[in-house]
Formats: sequence, C-alpha cells, structure tokens
Amino acid sequence: MPQLARRMGRAKQSAIMLVAEKARQLKAQGRDIISFSIGVPNFLPGAHVYDAARAALDADSGQYGSNRGTDALLDAFLAHIEAAGLTGYTRANCATGIGAKHVLYNLCEALLDDGDGIAFATPYWTTYLDIAELLGAEVHLLPCPPEQDYKLAPAQLDAALARKPKVFLFNNPSNPTGMAYTRDEIAALADVVAKYPDTWVITDDIYHRMVFDDIGYHNFLHLRPELRDRVIFVDSLSKTYGMPGWRVGFVAGPEAVAKALTALNSTHITNVPEVVTAAAVAALSGPQDVPAARCAEFERRRDQVLAVLARIPGVACPKPQGAFYVFPDVSVAFGRTHAPTGLTIGNDIDLCNALLEAKGVACVPGSAFGEPRSLRISYTCPEAQLAPGMERIREFFAELA
Ligand SMILES: Cc1ncc(COP(=O)(O)O)c(C=O)c1O
Repeated sequence: MPQLARRMGRAKQSAIMLVAEKARQLKAQGRDIISFSIGVPNFLPGAHVYDAARAALDADSGQYGSNRGTDALLDAFLAHIEAAGLTGYTRANCATGIGAKHVLYNLCEALLDDGDGIAFATPYWTTYLDIAELLGAEVHLLPCPPEQDYKLAPAQLDAALARKPKVFLFNNPSNPTGMAYTRDEIAALADVVAKYPDTWVITDDIYHRMVFDDIGYHNFLHLRPELRDRVIFVDSLSKTYGMPGWRVGFVAGPEAVAKALTALNSTHITNVPEVVTAAAVAALSGPQDVPAARCAEFERRRDQVLAVLARIPGVACPKPQGAFYVFPDVSVAFGRTHAPTGLTIGNDIDLCNALLEAKGVACVPGSAFGEPRSLRISYTCPEAQLAPGMERIREFFAELA
C-alpha cells in the first residue's frame, strides 16, 4: 500500500473526543454514565435561530456563497464584537470559518512557516498543540501550574516573547482551566506584548460572554488599541449560543490576515453554508437572553462544583471565573489504590479510567492539556446529573487507600 504523507504521523484525534467516545460506548452497553468530559453547552439556541434556518430553506437557499462570509453575517459579527468593546473594524477585517477550530487552523497555516515558533500557556486547549505539530511549527510551552492559578505571568511572557516566536496564542477565559484574566492582569500582559512587534497575537476568546464574579471581559486591544495591527481576535457561536454543531467561527484582525483566511476558505470550504449563515445572523443579532441566562447558570454551577471539591482532602482547585470547566489538581490520588475495585492510580489517565470504571463518571485527564496533575470537569451535563456526579467523585476519593 502506498504511504500516507509524513505529516500524518503528527496528526492526532482529539484526546477529549476519545474520552467522550469511551463514555458513549459504556452508556450504549447500559452502564449508568455521567459525562463531565466534552465541552458542549447544555442548551439550544432560541426559536428565532431555527425560524431563520427554516426561512432560509424555504427561500431555496443552498447555492455557493461568499468565501469571506456574507455581508449580513459579517455585519452581525461586527455588531457583536462592538458590544464586546472591539470597535472600528470593517468587513475587510473579518472572515468566517467552520467553527473556531477551523479558523485557528487556518490562522496557523496563514501565519506560520515550517519551523516557526508558536508560544502558548500550559494547560492549553488540546487542539493548539495538535495544530502546531501538524503544521511542523516549533512549540514553546509556557507552564502555568496550579500554584500560579494556571495564569500566565508577565515576566514569563516576556521571557517567552524574547525568543521571538512568530505567534503567541492566548486563550481567555481558558479551556481547560476556566480561569479568566482581570483587567489589571491583561494590562500587564499587554505591556509585554507591546514590546515585541514581530510577534502575531491570536486571542482565542470564544468564552468571552461567560465571565463570572463581575470581573468583566478584557482583551489586549481594550488596553492597547495600537496593537490592532497584529492582534487577531477569534470567536465562535458554539459555546455562547449553544450551537456547536452548526460550526460557525470568526476572526477579526488586520485586513491582510482576514484576506489570507478568505483565500484559504476559497481553497478548503468555499463558504459557510447559507442555511447555517441565516441561523448565525439570527443568533448574533436576535435576543441575547440565552447567553446571559446561561452565564448566570454556569456561575452557580461553578460554585456547586467547587463546594464539593473543597470537601475532598488534598484536592486543590484554583477558582475559575469563566467558561464551564474546573481543573482541580488531583495528584493526591497518585500512588494510591481504589479499595473497593483494587484499581491502582499511577497518574491522571489511570485516575480517569478508574473513575469511569468504578463510578461511571467521565472526566478528561489533565495530560490531554499538558498538565498531568489535574483533570478537567466540564459541568454542562443535565442539571439532575451534576450533584450525583460530583458526589460520586467525592466518594471515589474517600475510597482511596
Ligand atoms: C478554547 C477553545 N477554542 C476553540 C474551540 C473550538 O470551538 P468551535 O466549536 O467553534 O470549533 C474550543 C472548543 O472546545 C475551545 O475550547
């Protein structure tokens, strides 16, 4: 058989999806499974979104569309980012894609030549590493352990940017940690970014509408608008509007970058489909009560999850202030045995397997995000499962010998 391309040796299936798949299989076998694994919102968009999609179908949509995105979609996105304090952009600064994942992939393809450096914090969203490796970039990881609340410190960023990576990729609020940066923290990091004019900065802010405790959403551009010529803002409908399967992502940045993404769309996808576009416009420009209500709900759930974790001796969890994840340090379990099943816990992967096996609770091992001392709990499961799922985790730790 002929060989696959060499680069496919570096291509991986998302570790998160693998856990979710295992949980799905056990469920199909009749096991009582509670999944805290995949980062999907637990709500659907408002009726106006479905109405818009149906109207588009009735209007006989389904033709080829614009590589960049339709004017209506770009305008709706512009209004949306203006509400987030990102002003002064035009359609020429924007492009769309099949989810933020696709947009991020295309951005890396557009900005990085083989061997160019890309810097990002650990814990990272798994796909950052997957994309960088697939494209043959040199990855500079910036370790942000639980002791520093999983947050990037200005001195650390300074040292990393002094190595002149081509791209600095920043995620706020973070998947997997849920940590969100305060205004002062973003201001301090923006001062560092300003010192290194040869580095592109991608801000993956797809959770920016899910920030708690009134700390607000802050981007380097709010603090230093002059960074506009190299900061690229990435957004998505997936989490904010409960539309992960509709696959709509956006970018706002320098015109040359948006043009490059439009060219890549022309090669890869041609366009975001028309029916999806109609739904996306409705989500962005319709009533905004769904995202606001969900943000309040997630804040309440965050507190509920942290309260249970606080009752587990030795488990430490920096307090997340956004998204819908918590990322506790569970290393207290390593080297111990789950007494009722005899399962031994050497590391985070053993722990997640044992938790699934013994208690039917699926979490994602921290090593999938570059932090093997932790595990990720995504708390968007059905409401009725949250308390029992957390109780099972607490019981599991209590049963360790
Ligand atoms: C930080 C982060 N960026 C990007 C994405 C991709 O989102 P999308 O569904 O728009 O591709 C995710 C999805 O989990 C994410 O957590």
